[in-house]
Amino acid sequence: MTETTTAPDRRAEPRETPDRRRHARDLFVEFRDVNKAYGNKQVLRGADLKVYRGEVLVILGGSGSGKSVTLRHMLGLEAPDSGRVIVEDEDITDHPEEELYRVRKKFGMLFQSGALFDSMNVFENVAFPLREHAEMSEEEIARAVKEKLGLVNLPNTENLMPVDLSGGMRKRVGLARSIVLDPKMILYDEPTTGLDPITSQKINELIIDLQSKLNVTSVVVTHDIQSAFSVGDRIAFLNKGVFEWIGSMEQARDADHPVLREFFKASAVTAAQPTR
Ligand SMILES: Nc1ncnc2c1ncn2[C@@H]1O[C@H](COP(=O)(O)OP(=O)(O)OP(=O)(O)O)[C@@H](O)[C@H]1O
Ligand SMILES: [Mg+2]
Repeated sequence: MTETTTAPDRRAEPRETPDRRRHARDLFVEFRDVNKAYGNKQVLRGADLKVYRGEVLVILGGSGSGKSVTLRHMLGLEAPDSGRVIVEDEDITDHPEEELYRVRKKFGMLFQSGALFDSMNVFENVAFPLREHAEMSEEEIARAVKEKLGLVNLPNTENLMPVDLSGGMRKRVGLARSIVLDPKMILYDEPTTGLDPITSQKINELIIDLQSKLNVTSVVVTHDIQSAFSVGDRIAFLNKGVFEWIGSMEQARDADHPVLREFFKASAVTAAQPTR
C-alpha cells in the first residue's frame, strides 16, 4: 500500500472494545414486546431490545421509523400501548410521574435539536439541570459546569451565547448539559446530523471518550453509518416497528439481511467495508 491521499478511513473501522464485550451481560434497559401507535399509525409493533451495561448500542433506522420514539420510551416520556419497558431491573411501564422522575435521573439525553436555551449563556444552559434537580451551592454549580465543559473540550466558553456557537459547539454544550447530573446512561439522538464530516468525527470521538471517562452505557440514534461504525459496539436496526436485526459491528458488515444491506448501500456505506 502506498502513502497517498487514499489512506484508510479510520472512521469506518469499528472500535475495538474486546474487554467490554467479554464482560458478563448485565442488562441496563430492556423492551419486551413494545407496541406504540399514534392515531392509526402503528410505530412500534412488538419491539424487543436489550441494552447491556457498558456498551454503546447504535439504533439505525429510516426517517420516521420510531428511533426518537424508542428513546422517549426509555425515559418514560412515553408509555407503550402494550409490552414492558425495564430499566435496571425495574419495570417502569406503569410508573406514575413521580417514580419516573427518579428513573429519568439515570439518563442524560442529547436531543435531536440540540435544544439550547437561546436566551441563556453557555454557563446557564449547562447549569440548568443542576438548578432544577440538585441542591447545590453556586460554587458547586460553577465547579460542575466547568468540569463538564472541560470534558466536552469547551473550556472557558461559559459567557458565550448560543448564537455565537458553531453547530458542533452547540452539540457539545448540549452534551455537557446532558451529563451534568452524572447519568448512568447517555441517549444521543442524531448527534452528528447536520454537522460537517470533521466536526462529526470530533463528536464521535467525544462519545467514545465520555464512554470510558464516565463509565456509562450509551444508546446512539443515527443514520450516519460512519458514526455508527466509529462509536458502536452493536447495531440494532429498526424497521417496520421492530428491531429486525441486532448484532455486533463486525456481524453488521457481513449481514445478509436484505433491508439492512439496502440501508447501508443507500447510506454510501462502501466506506464501511473493511479497508484492505
Ligand atoms: N407525539 C406524536 N404524535 C403523533 N405522531 C408521532 C408522535 N411522535 C412520533 N410520531 C410519529 O411516529 C413516527 C416515528 O417518529 P420518530 O420521531 O420516532 O421517528 P424517527 O425514527 O426518530 O425519525 P427521524 O429520523 O426523522 O428523526 C413518525 O411517523 C412520527 O410522525
Ligand atoms: Mg428522530
